[in-house]
Amino acid sequence: MSDPTRPRGPKIIAVANQKGGVGKTTTTINLGAALAEAGQKVLIIDLDPQGNASTGLGIDASDRELTTYELLLEEIDLSEVVQETAFDNLLIVPATVDLSSADMELIATEKRSFLLHDALRQTAMDDYAIDYILIDCPPSLNLLTVNAMVAAHSVLVPLQSEFFALEGLSQLMLTIREVRQTANPNLRIEGVVLTMFDARNNLSSQVEQDARDNLGALVFQTRIPRNVRVSEAPSYAVPVLQYDSASKGAQAYRDLARELMSNQTRAAA
Ligand SMILES: Nc1ncnc2c1ncn2[C@@H]1O[C@H](COP(=O)(O)OP(=O)(O)O)[C@@H](O)[C@H]1O
Ligand SMILES: [Mg+2]
Repeated sequence: MSDPTRPRGPKIIAVANQKGGVGKTTTTINLGAALAEAGQKVLIIDLDPQGNASTGLGIDASDRELTTYELLLEEIDLSEVVQETAFDNLLIVPATVDLSSADMELIATEKRSFLLHDALRQTAMDDYAIDYILIDCPPSLNLLTVNAMVAAHSVLVPLQSEFFALEGLSQLMLTIREVRQTANPNLRIEGVVLTMFDARNNLSSQVEQDARDNLGALVFQTRIPRNVRVSEAPSYAVPVLQYDSASKGAQAYRDLARELMSNQTRAAA
């Protein structure tokens, strides 16, 4: 069900925030699953040496011989690193801790910020007919995250609904601006999504108000509630949409997917 108004090839979205524990990986996995459930073909790139997206989608450590590291630094063909997950239409390039040395090795490489960009535009990509690529970034604004921003059409920012949530956003926006000025002038901000939202908690509402006051229409209408099913799903190695399809968390990620897809229609119109 690819959108005929969209330019050829997948839409590439970097899921980024240099803070750890804000819901990047959770959003990558479950937004990916929700898009896949809606009939889109989705590829997740695990760009975090912690490999949480890979683990959360059931890729055993023993099945990670060829990973994002090889994709970036050994110019290996996509078909050798892409793996299926237990969820229909949802593919992944897994990561291991090897990727932590990639940041240093990238510095020594001439085209250091374009490696992921080039890897995702190799002709083998056409064979997969991917609609969306979601890149799960590490909790840092290092060269790996810059690679994601150079490769991407847009950045999606999970914002945890807690105190100091907006702190650090200006640093992230600055990095986006720098990438625009140097390597990727068309990089957009897809949106900021409030995660782990608790409607009964005044603090959550206050963070939402602050975010909407400061960022306006960039903030998605959809909020992802704090939901224990969301945090349990990775230990069963499946998205929450599969673990507990009717849970509030699963529903919220479906809403986010719908909002994202209509975003895109708006952007194309
Ligand atoms: N909506 C949610 N409800 C409950 N727990 C969540 C939710 N989103 C994320 N978590 C939990 O918060 C922790 C951090 O989330 P994670 O996605 O790993 O963050 P990041 O990738 O930004 O470091 C994880 O233990 C995850 O299970
Ligand atoms: Mg993560």
